[in-house]
Amino acid sequence: MDGDFTLKKISIAVLGSDGQLGNEFRRLAPSFEFCHFDFFTRHILDISDIEALKRVFLDKNYDYVSNCAAYTAVDKAETDVENCYAINATACANLAKTLIQADTKLIHFSSDYVYHSYNGFPLREDGTLNPKGVYASSKLEGENLIRATGIPALILRTSWVVSSFGHNFVKTMLRLGQERPTISVVNDQYGAPTFAKHLAIAVLDIILQTSSNPGKENLFNDTYNYANEGIITWYDLATQIMAFQNLPCKVMPILSKDYPTPAVRPHWSVLSKLKIKKAFNIEIPHWYTAISECLDDISNKK
Ligand SMILES: NC(=O)c1ccc[n+]([C@@H]2O[C@H](COP(=O)([O-])OP(=O)(O)OC[C@H]3O[C@@H](n4cnc5c(N)ncnc54)[C@H](OP(=O)(O)O)[C@@H]3O)[C@@H](O)[C@H]2O)c1
Repeated sequence: MDGDFTLKKISIAVLGSDGQLGNEFRRLAPSFEFCHFDFFTRHILDISDIEALKRVFLDKNYDYVSNCAAYTAVDKAETDVENCYAINATACANLAKTLIQADTKLIHFSSDYVYHSYNGFPLREDGTLNPKGVYASSKLEGENLIRATGIPALILRTSWVVSSFGHNFVKTMLRLGQERPTISVVNDQYGAPTFAKHLAIAVLDIILQTSSNPGKENLFNDTYNYANEGIITWYDLATQIMAFQNLPCKVMPILSKDYPTPAVRPHWSVLSKLKIKKAFNIEIPHWYTAISECLDDISNKK
């Protein structure tokens, strides 16, 4: 029987591809041969440039855009309000409006900071939202503006992102652990790290499920939490990192009030992952696995 059995690849554009998450998509791309990826660093596509968004996305109708671009300098944002909102809110709205015209679905990343509330249980997507500070408020505004456009969007709220790329807590601890005999780390903020690679794999899994099963499109168009499993404080995490790496540095627990920062941090960033696990039947690795894989990645780069 004759026929054209050429399968059309799923086309995915990754924005902010020089960041932690964007780099993980880049690294995973060769393993996902049924997808075609284009990567856009800030230099290639500044998402706050509305004409550039139109040029890129109205010309080429991607199936999905994964928006890893964000203003993530949480403390700097307190005095750089306009830029933070321009990227995390206005640009995201403009991106969504452009993608609707191109019939492209959006994957967008938000933050545990939008919750900033505590009820004794892991934070659910439909729970209280009480963002404090410019970055947190700009991330919630970005979510809301995207939803208001009506675009099919998967919005993923994540926490404590770590990887072998860019700047993050794991890399800071490794550096300080080699430089200092003791360090103080806050022990009253609870949450879980998110290994950017695990998050990127989950996103690609969801894309595949949505593309091969139109019944899943309603599930795609929703807001979910994603972090690695388990609960830990930054202090415990730092202690584990020193132990994993056999670093002699002693980690001292302190309270957040003794480590003031321009932007206030939530004490409770424990995200419920029930909704995403049920919707897409995904397994989420424990933070212990996440941190040991992340440390391996960092060692392998040396
Ligand atoms: N990192 C965390 O702990 C954390 C926690 C919760 C949620 N999140 C969210 O998770 C997502 C991914 O975070 P990440 O850790 O991968 O962030 P990241 O490493 O800071 O990467 C963000 C990337 O966005 C780029 N970018 C900034 N402004 C841009 C613009 N106008 N146009 C295009 N690109 C721009 C940055 O480029 P430059 O470096 O050149 O500025 C950077 O490459 C973000 O939405 C973030 O808000 C992160």
